[in-house]
Amino acid sequence: MRVLGIESSCDETAASIVEDGHRILSSAVASQVEIHNAYGGVVPELASRQHTEAIVPVVDQAIMDAGIGPEEIEAVAVTQGPGLVGCLLIGFSFAKAFAYARGLPWVGVDHLEGHLYSVRLGDDPPQYPYVALLASGGHTGVYYVASEVRQELLGQTRDDAAGEAYDKVAKMLGLGYPGGAVIDRLAGEGDAKRIAFTRPYLDKEQFDFSFSGLKTAVNRYLQAHPRAVEESCADVAAAFQEAVMDVLVYKLIHAAEVKQCERVAVVGGVAANGRLRERLAIDGNAMGLSVHIPPLDLCGDNAAMIAAVGYHHLQRGDRTSLDADVYSRRPRFESL
Ligand code: KG4
Ligand code: ZN
Repeated sequence: MRVLGIESSCDETAASIVEDGHRILSSAVASQVEIHNAYGGVVPELASRQHTEAIVPVVDQAIMDAGIGPEEIEAVAVTQGPGLVGCLLIGFSFAKAFAYARGLPWVGVDHLEGHLYSVRLGDDPPQYPYVALLASGGHTGVYYVASEVRQELLGQTRDDAAGEAYDKVAKMLGLGYPGGAVIDRLAGEGDAKRIAFTRPYLDKEQFDFSFSGLKTAVNRYLQAHPRAVEESCADVAAAFQEAVMDVLVYKLIHAAEVKQCERVAVVGGVAANGRLRERLAIDGNAMGLSVHIPPLDLCGDNAAMIAAVGYHHLQRGDRTSLDADVYSRRPRFESL
Protein backbone atom coordinates (compact mmCIF):
# COMPACT_ATOMS: atom_id res chain seq x y z
CA MET A 1 0.00 0.00 0.00
CA ARG A 2 1.38 3.41 -1.02
CA VAL A 3 0.68 6.04 1.61
CA LEU A 4 1.03 9.79 1.13
CA GLY A 5 2.29 11.26 4.42
CA ILE A 6 1.90 14.93 5.30
CA GLU A 7 3.55 16.83 8.16
CA SER A 8 3.09 20.52 9.04
CA SER A 9 3.18 20.70 12.85
CA CYS A 10 5.88 23.35 13.21
CA ASP A 11 8.25 25.00 10.73
CA GLU A 12 8.67 22.28 8.11
CA THR A 13 6.18 21.48 5.38
CA ALA A 14 6.81 17.87 4.43
CA ALA A 15 5.27 15.23 2.16
CA SER A 16 6.39 11.69 1.49
CA ILE A 17 5.33 8.51 -0.26
CA VAL A 18 6.06 5.32 1.69
CA GLU A 19 5.23 1.81 0.51
CA ASP A 20 4.02 -0.82 2.99
CA GLY A 21 5.20 1.18 6.00
CA HIS A 22 8.91 0.83 5.29
CA ARG A 23 10.01 1.64 1.73
CA ILE A 24 10.52 5.39 1.34
CA LEU A 25 9.84 6.29 -2.30
CA SER A 26 10.24 10.03 -1.66
CA SER A 27 10.54 12.50 1.19
CA ALA A 28 10.23 16.22 0.39
CA VAL A 29 10.78 18.88 3.07
CA ALA A 30 10.39 22.67 2.72
CA SER A 31 12.11 24.26 5.70
CA GLN A 32 11.20 27.71 7.00
CA VAL A 33 14.36 28.10 9.06
CA GLU A 34 15.58 31.14 7.08
CA ILE A 35 12.33 33.01 7.78
CA HIS A 36 12.26 32.37 11.54
CA ASN A 37 16.00 32.85 12.02
CA ALA A 38 15.54 36.64 12.00
CA TYR A 39 13.23 36.35 15.05
CA GLY A 40 15.30 33.83 17.04
CA GLY A 41 12.44 31.31 17.10
CA VAL A 42 9.32 30.13 15.25
CA VAL A 43 6.68 32.83 14.70
CA PRO A 44 3.43 30.80 14.54
CA GLU A 45 1.51 33.18 12.25
CA LEU A 46 4.37 33.35 9.74
CA ALA A 47 4.75 29.59 9.91
CA SER A 48 1.07 28.99 9.07
CA ARG A 49 1.26 31.33 6.07
CA GLN A 50 4.36 29.56 4.80
CA HIS A 51 2.66 26.17 5.08
CA THR A 52 -0.23 27.51 2.99
CA GLU A 53 2.19 28.46 0.23
CA ALA A 54 4.36 25.35 0.44
CA ILE A 55 1.84 22.52 0.84
CA VAL A 56 0.83 22.04 -2.83
CA PRO A 57 4.38 22.32 -4.29
CA VAL A 58 5.77 19.99 -1.61
CA VAL A 59 3.13 17.32 -2.24
CA ASP A 60 3.73 17.66 -6.01
CA GLN A 61 7.45 17.24 -5.38
CA ALA A 62 6.93 14.10 -3.29
CA ILE A 63 4.72 12.53 -5.97
CA MET A 64 7.19 13.42 -8.73
CA ASP A 65 10.24 12.17 -6.78
CA ALA A 66 8.45 8.87 -6.12
CA GLY A 67 8.03 8.44 -9.87
CA ILE A 68 4.31 7.73 -9.55
CA GLY A 69 1.09 9.47 -10.56
CA PRO A 70 -1.36 10.84 -7.95
CA GLU A 71 -3.77 8.03 -8.89
CA GLU A 72 -1.27 5.49 -7.51
CA ILE A 73 -1.60 6.85 -3.97
CA GLU A 74 -3.77 4.41 -1.98
CA ALA A 75 -4.13 6.15 1.40
CA VAL A 76 -3.23 9.33 3.26
CA ALA A 77 -1.68 9.84 6.73
CA VAL A 78 -1.29 13.27 8.27
CA THR A 79 0.03 14.76 11.51
CA GLN A 80 -2.99 15.58 13.66
CA GLY A 81 -0.99 16.88 16.65
CA PRO A 82 0.64 17.91 18.85
CA GLY A 83 1.96 21.11 17.31
CA LEU A 84 1.09 24.69 16.46
CA VAL A 85 -2.63 24.68 15.74
CA GLY A 86 -2.50 27.08 12.78
CA CYS A 87 0.29 25.02 11.22
CA LEU A 88 -1.33 21.63 11.83
CA LEU A 89 -4.54 22.91 10.24
CA ILE A 90 -2.90 23.46 6.85
CA GLY A 91 -1.58 19.92 6.43
CA PHE A 92 -4.64 18.37 8.06
CA SER A 93 -7.13 20.24 5.85
CA PHE A 94 -5.09 19.43 2.76
CA ALA A 95 -4.93 15.72 3.63
CA LYS A 96 -8.66 15.60 4.36
CA ALA A 97 -9.54 17.29 1.06
CA PHE A 98 -7.11 15.13 -0.94
CA ALA A 99 -8.45 11.91 0.57
CA TYR A 100 -12.09 12.98 0.20
CA ALA A 101 -11.67 14.08 -3.42
CA ARG A 102 -9.99 10.79 -4.36
CA GLY A 103 -12.12 8.55 -2.15
CA LEU A 104 -9.08 7.30 -0.21
CA PRO A 105 -8.84 6.02 3.37
CA TRP A 106 -7.00 8.46 5.61
CA VAL A 107 -5.79 8.65 9.17
CA GLY A 108 -4.57 11.36 11.56
CA VAL A 109 -1.27 10.46 13.21
CA ASP A 110 0.37 11.58 16.45
CA HIS A 111 3.57 13.48 15.65
CA LEU A 112 5.47 11.86 18.53
CA GLU A 113 4.44 8.39 17.43
CA GLY A 114 5.90 9.33 14.04
CA HIS A 115 9.23 10.29 15.64
CA LEU A 116 9.25 7.05 17.66
CA TYR A 117 8.70 5.09 14.44
CA SER A 118 11.43 6.96 12.50
CA VAL A 119 14.17 4.65 13.82
CA ARG A 120 12.47 1.73 12.07
CA LEU A 121 12.96 3.41 8.69
CA GLY A 122 16.76 3.40 8.91
CA ASP A 123 19.10 0.53 8.00
CA ASP A 124 19.27 -0.72 11.58
CA PRO A 125 15.75 -1.02 13.03
CA PRO A 126 15.65 -2.34 16.62
CA GLN A 127 13.52 -5.37 17.40
CA TYR A 128 10.60 -4.81 19.78
CA PRO A 129 10.54 -4.05 22.63
CA TYR A 130 12.98 -1.20 23.19
CA VAL A 131 13.34 1.96 25.20
CA ALA A 132 13.43 5.20 23.21
CA LEU A 133 14.49 8.71 24.06
CA LEU A 134 12.50 11.24 22.04
CA ALA A 135 14.28 14.60 22.15
CA SER A 136 13.10 17.39 19.87
CA GLY A 137 12.32 21.09 19.94
CA GLY A 138 8.87 20.57 21.41
CA HIS A 139 9.16 17.35 23.42
CA THR A 140 11.56 15.33 25.54
CA GLY A 141 10.52 12.01 26.98
CA VAL A 142 11.51 8.38 27.51
CA TYR A 143 9.21 5.66 26.16
CA TYR A 144 8.91 1.92 26.36
CA VAL A 145 8.03 0.90 22.81
CA ALA A 146 6.21 -2.42 22.52
CA SER A 147 5.00 -2.30 18.90
CA GLU A 148 4.28 0.06 15.97
CA VAL A 149 1.30 1.55 17.73
CA ARG A 150 1.86 0.72 21.40
CA GLN A 151 4.16 2.71 23.59
CA GLU A 152 4.29 3.67 27.25
CA LEU A 153 5.49 7.09 28.36
CA LEU A 154 7.93 6.57 31.25
CA GLY A 155 8.78 10.22 31.88
CA GLN A 156 8.98 13.57 30.15
CA THR A 157 10.15 17.11 30.60
CA ARG A 158 8.36 19.22 33.18
CA ASP A 159 9.25 22.44 31.41
CA ASP A 160 11.47 23.04 28.36
CA ALA A 161 12.32 20.36 25.81
CA ALA A 162 16.01 19.56 25.22
CA GLY A 163 15.97 21.08 21.71
CA GLU A 164 14.18 24.15 23.06
CA ALA A 165 17.00 24.60 25.62
CA TYR A 166 19.53 24.38 22.77
CA ASP A 167 17.58 27.00 20.82
CA LYS A 168 17.30 29.37 23.80
CA VAL A 169 20.96 29.06 24.78
CA ALA A 170 21.95 29.64 21.14
CA LYS A 171 19.86 32.81 21.18
CA MET A 172 21.67 33.99 24.35
CA LEU A 173 24.99 33.32 22.64
CA GLY A 174 23.88 35.19 19.50
CA LEU A 175 24.09 32.07 17.36
CA GLY A 176 20.69 32.34 15.60
CA TYR A 177 17.83 29.83 15.22
CA PRO A 178 17.68 26.85 15.37
CA GLY A 179 20.51 26.39 17.85
CA GLY A 180 21.08 22.64 18.02
CA ALA A 181 23.39 22.07 15.09
CA VAL A 182 25.44 25.25 15.68
CA ILE A 183 25.99 24.53 19.40
CA ASP A 184 26.84 20.93 18.50
CA ARG A 185 29.54 22.17 16.11
CA LEU A 186 30.89 24.92 18.38
CA ALA A 187 31.00 22.65 21.43
CA GLY A 188 33.55 20.50 19.59
CA GLU A 189 36.00 23.42 19.84
CA GLY A 190 35.35 24.14 23.53
CA ASP A 191 36.35 22.71 26.89
CA ALA A 192 33.28 21.37 28.71
CA LYS A 193 35.16 21.11 32.00
CA ARG A 194 35.79 24.85 32.31
CA ILE A 195 32.24 25.59 33.55
CA ALA A 196 30.14 23.37 35.82
CA PHE A 197 26.47 23.79 34.92
CA THR A 198 23.71 22.08 36.89
CA ARG A 199 22.51 18.59 35.81
CA PRO A 200 18.78 18.93 36.48
CA TYR A 201 16.91 15.84 37.67
CA LEU A 202 19.99 13.66 37.34
CA ASP A 203 19.58 12.54 40.94
CA LYS A 204 15.90 11.70 40.58
CA GLU A 205 14.90 8.07 40.19
CA GLN A 206 11.98 8.81 37.92
CA PHE A 207 12.34 9.49 34.21
CA ASP A 208 11.23 13.11 34.17
CA PHE A 209 13.45 15.91 32.87
CA SER A 210 13.77 19.64 33.45
CA PHE A 211 15.86 21.93 31.27
CA SER A 212 14.63 25.36 32.23
CA GLY A 213 16.98 25.62 35.26
CA LEU A 214 19.95 24.78 33.06
CA LYS A 215 18.95 27.51 30.63
CA THR A 216 18.74 29.96 33.57
CA ALA A 217 22.17 28.80 34.82
CA VAL A 218 23.68 29.63 31.41
CA ASN A 219 21.95 33.01 31.48
CA ARG A 220 23.31 33.78 34.98
CA TYR A 221 26.78 32.74 33.93
CA LEU A 222 26.64 35.09 30.93
CA GLN A 223 25.47 37.95 33.15
CA ALA A 224 28.30 37.32 35.61
CA HIS A 225 30.85 37.02 32.79
CA PRO A 226 29.95 39.75 30.28
CA ARG A 227 32.89 38.96 27.99
CA ALA A 228 32.11 35.21 27.84
CA VAL A 229 30.25 35.43 24.52
CA GLU A 230 33.30 36.95 22.76
CA GLU A 231 36.01 35.14 24.68
CA SER A 232 34.74 31.68 25.63
CA CYS A 233 31.59 31.00 23.61
CA ALA A 234 32.79 27.51 22.65
CA ASP A 235 33.43 26.61 26.31
CA VAL A 236 29.92 27.74 27.30
CA ALA A 237 28.46 25.71 24.42
CA ALA A 238 30.51 22.64 25.37
CA ALA A 239 29.67 22.87 29.10
CA PHE A 240 25.96 23.35 28.36
CA GLN A 241 25.94 20.45 25.91
CA GLU A 242 27.72 18.11 28.32
CA ALA A 243 25.17 18.91 31.03
CA VAL A 244 22.28 18.07 28.65
CA MET A 245 23.99 14.88 27.50
CA ASP A 246 24.74 13.66 31.03
CA VAL A 247 21.03 13.80 31.81
CA LEU A 248 19.72 12.39 28.51
CA VAL A 249 22.18 9.50 28.37
CA TYR A 250 21.76 8.57 32.06
CA LYS A 251 17.95 8.55 31.88
CA LEU A 252 17.88 6.46 28.72
CA ILE A 253 20.31 3.86 30.08
CA HIS A 254 18.55 3.78 33.43
CA ALA A 255 15.19 3.23 31.71
CA ALA A 256 16.68 0.33 29.73
CA GLU A 257 17.85 -1.22 33.00
CA VAL A 258 14.49 -0.81 34.72
CA LYS A 259 12.52 -2.15 31.74
CA GLN A 260 15.14 -4.85 31.14
CA CYS A 261 15.62 -3.91 27.48
CA GLU A 262 18.82 -4.64 25.60
CA ARG A 263 17.95 -2.19 22.85
CA VAL A 264 17.67 1.58 23.02
CA ALA A 265 16.79 4.19 20.40
CA VAL A 266 17.11 7.95 20.17
CA VAL A 267 14.77 9.91 17.89
CA GLY A 268 13.79 13.55 17.19
CA GLY A 269 15.84 16.57 16.12
CA VAL A 270 18.34 16.26 19.00
CA ALA A 271 19.16 12.69 17.87
CA ALA A 272 21.23 14.41 15.15
CA ASN A 273 23.67 15.55 17.86
CA GLY A 274 27.23 14.32 17.34
CA ARG A 275 28.14 14.25 21.03
CA LEU A 276 24.97 12.31 21.89
CA ARG A 277 25.87 9.68 19.31
CA GLU A 278 29.43 9.55 20.65
CA ARG A 279 28.33 9.28 24.29
CA LEU A 280 25.84 6.53 23.52
CA ALA A 281 28.42 4.59 21.54
CA ILE A 282 30.67 4.65 24.64
CA ASP A 283 28.25 4.48 27.59
CA GLY A 284 25.57 2.40 25.85
CA ASN A 285 27.99 -0.16 24.52
CA ALA A 286 29.72 -0.37 27.91
CA MET A 287 26.33 -1.41 29.33
CA GLY A 288 25.90 -4.03 26.61
CA LEU A 289 23.08 -2.12 24.93
CA SER A 290 22.52 -2.02 21.20
CA VAL A 291 21.99 1.61 20.26
CA HIS A 292 19.75 2.57 17.31
CA ILE A 293 19.59 6.09 15.86
CA PRO A 294 17.87 7.06 12.58
CA PRO A 295 19.85 8.65 9.74
CA LEU A 296 20.08 12.45 9.95
CA ASP A 297 17.26 13.18 7.46
CA LEU A 298 14.85 11.16 9.61
CA CYS A 299 15.80 12.83 12.92
CA GLY A 300 14.21 16.20 12.17
CA ASP A 301 10.59 16.63 11.13
CA ASN A 302 9.69 14.68 8.01
CA ALA A 303 6.62 13.09 6.49
CA ALA A 304 8.09 9.61 5.86
CA MET A 305 7.70 8.78 9.56
CA ILE A 306 4.09 9.96 9.42
CA ALA A 307 3.27 7.90 6.30
CA ALA A 308 4.98 4.83 7.80
CA VAL A 309 3.27 4.88 11.17
CA GLY A 310 0.01 5.84 9.44
CA TYR A 311 0.29 2.66 7.36
CA HIS A 312 0.23 0.53 10.54
CA HIS A 313 -2.82 2.35 11.85
CA LEU A 314 -4.58 1.93 8.50
CA GLN A 315 -3.71 -1.79 8.50
CA ARG A 316 -5.42 -2.05 11.89
CA GLY A 317 -8.51 -0.46 10.38
CA ASP A 318 -8.06 2.94 12.04
CA ARG A 319 -9.75 5.73 10.07
CA THR A 320 -10.21 9.40 10.91
CA SER A 321 -13.59 10.95 10.30
CA LEU A 322 -14.05 14.00 8.10
CA ASP A 323 -15.30 16.09 11.01
CA ALA A 324 -12.15 15.41 13.09
CA ASP A 325 -9.97 18.35 14.06
CA VAL A 326 -6.33 18.96 14.98
CA TYR A 327 -5.07 18.96 18.58
CA SER A 328 -2.24 20.99 20.05
CA ARG A 329 -1.56 18.74 23.05
CA ARG A 330 -0.91 15.06 23.19
CA PRO A 331 -3.84 12.86 24.20
CA ARG A 332 -3.09 10.18 26.80
CA PHE A 333 -1.25 7.15 25.50
CA GLU A 334 -3.01 3.85 25.20
CA SER A 335 -1.64 2.05 28.27
CA LEU A 336 0.07 -1.31 27.93
O1 KG4 B 1 12.23 17.00 15.70
P1 KG4 B 1 12.45 18.41 15.30
O2 KG4 B 1 12.89 18.70 13.89
O3 KG4 B 1 11.17 19.28 15.54
C1 KG4 B 1 10.32 19.13 16.63
O4 KG4 B 1 9.46 18.21 16.59
O5 KG4 B 1 10.50 19.93 17.56
O6 KG4 B 1 13.52 19.00 16.33
C2 KG4 B 1 14.04 20.30 16.20
C3 KG4 B 1 14.97 20.55 17.37
C4 KG4 B 1 15.45 22.01 17.46
O7 KG4 B 1 15.27 22.46 18.78
C5 KG4 B 1 16.93 21.91 17.09
O8 KG4 B 1 17.72 22.91 17.72
C6 KG4 B 1 17.29 20.53 17.59
O9 KG4 B 1 16.16 19.74 17.26
N1 KG4 B 1 18.49 20.00 16.93
C7 KG4 B 1 19.61 19.67 17.60
C8 KG4 B 1 20.57 19.29 16.62
N2 KG4 B 1 19.97 19.41 15.37
C9 KG4 B 1 18.70 19.85 15.61
N3 KG4 B 1 19.90 19.66 18.91
C10 KG4 B 1 21.15 19.28 19.28
N4 KG4 B 1 22.10 18.93 18.40
C11 KG4 B 1 21.88 18.90 17.06
N5 KG4 B 1 22.83 18.54 16.20
ZN1 ZN C 1 9.12 16.79 15.55
